[in-house]
Amino acid sequence: MADNVQVNYNGKILECPVTVGTEGEKAFDIAKLRSQTGLITLDPGFSNTGSCKSAITYIDGEKGILRYRGIPIEQLAEHSTFVETAFLLIYGKLPNHGELEAFSAAFNEHSMIHEDMKNFFDAYPASTHPMASLSAMVCALSAYYPELIKENPNQKEMDRIAVQLLSKVRTICAFSYKKTIGEPFVYPRYDLHYVPNFLNMMFSSPTHPYKLVDEVVRALQVLLILHADHEQNCSTSTVRLVGSSRANLYASISAGICALWGPLHGGANQAVIEMLEGIQRDGGDVAKYITRAKDKNDHSRLMGFGHRVYKNFDPRAKIIKKCADDLLNKLGIHDPLLDLAKHMEDAALKDEYFISRKLYPNVDFYSGIIYRAVGIPLNMFPVMFAIGRMPGWIAHWKEMIQDPTNKIGRPFQIYVGAKMTDYVQLEQR
Ligand code: SDX
Repeated sequence: MADNVQVNYNGKILECPVTVGTEGEKAFDIAKLRSQTGLITLDPGFSNTGSCKSAITYIDGEKGILRYRGIPIEQLAEHSTFVETAFLLIYGKLPNHGELEAFSAAFNEHSMIHEDMKNFFDAYPASTHPMASLSAMVCALSAYYPELIKENPNQKEMDRIAVQLLSKVRTICAFSYKKTIGEPFVYPRYDLHYVPNFLNMMFSSPTHPYKLVDEVVRALQVLLILHADHEQNCSTSTVRLVGSSRANLYASISAGICALWGPLHGGANQAVIEMLEGIQRDGGDVAKYITRAKDKNDHSRLMGFGHRVYKNFDPRAKIIKKCADDLLNKLGIHDPLLDLAKHMEDAALKDEYFISRKLYPNVDFYSGIIYRAVGIPLNMFPVMFAIGRMPGWIAHWKEMIQDPTNKIGRPFQIYVGAKMTDYVQLEQR
């Protein structure tokens, strides 16, 4: 098999070496393209472009495979915890007992936020979308913990920054929820692990201590594990691009949160429920909405369907669908939106438009059903995605700054604007 690709242009031939990944994926390296041929590539949305080499996550979109550091997502969802999966993604291996204990203890050590940060919540209108306050407050961490603002943190500093962020984000999110419902903040507890602590901060109140239910804790663990990383998706690429300028981790992840907010990305889990609620209000006519999603003149889409990489089932959607069924059965909840979602999936997967375009349910299609059953408000669904994706963002930022070959990201463009023209004085316009 050829180990290079020839670019033959204007009588010049450039040999581009072919790079082969662990699982046999291939890319040809165009590092010399512009200097040798004057050409650049043009690939809107980067559908055919690799931005880096990474050892963190592997996806096979044709086979519906997702692995974190080589471990299949199905095994992690069944056996692991979010904190353990975060360690795996950031440090490249499963922690031994001592490492896991120390990592978990550090989460409790750093779960508080500076008391002055509570003033932020008073400054926001109650109607603020929690992704707006989350992005702002993550960036603000760099003001309250300036000792952690390092261009190139050493191992000890990296460990501290990572745990600080993973732990404080959970507190920031719970506090922002309490602010919107006018209840007093509930502080993190030293005796609770990651997910139970989050649930307690979200749903306990001075008059009603929250009763932890094992199945609810496990369902959230699984959701956070499933969201923890996903190669060079829009928000992770944003974190890498911002970090490539040597911006600190908090600033880079604050930008990633904003990228994730979009309804085509992590905001889709909220958009799916809004779509299903709209269909429910409109009499439950799923076929009508599938027809609209296929109509090029209608800008609506089936939210939670389709994926740039998966051209088969998103393995996460399969796990989440079963998790939703199990949790609702356990809690004795019947959510008509789950029935609608299943009906929509069945109908779409039999429809030539979706079949021919290989559009399947993605990670966002069923996750909102679980968040609803737990009592998480709709506008916090993207926040749950952000909490889950934190370890992946941290792992990619760390991998990038520790890569000696990494350069600042600065794509070119093809200019299609006006030819050179002279300035015209105001009186002559
Ligand atoms: C996430 O990248 C990641 O890994 C992301 C993520 C992660 O973990 O980080 O997996 C998380 O963001 C999941 C995706 C959540 N977004 C949605 O559910 C929004 C709905 N889906 C789409 O907007 C779309 O499918 C995307 C954005 C997910 C992917 O878009 P692409 O790859 O750019 O595909 P496209 O828009 O070019 O669509 C190809 C064709 C088009 O039709 P034609 O022009 O060929 O006729 O498929 C159609 C599209 O119109 N299409 C849809 C559709 N998704 C694609 N038609 C109707 N409904 C949809 N949902």
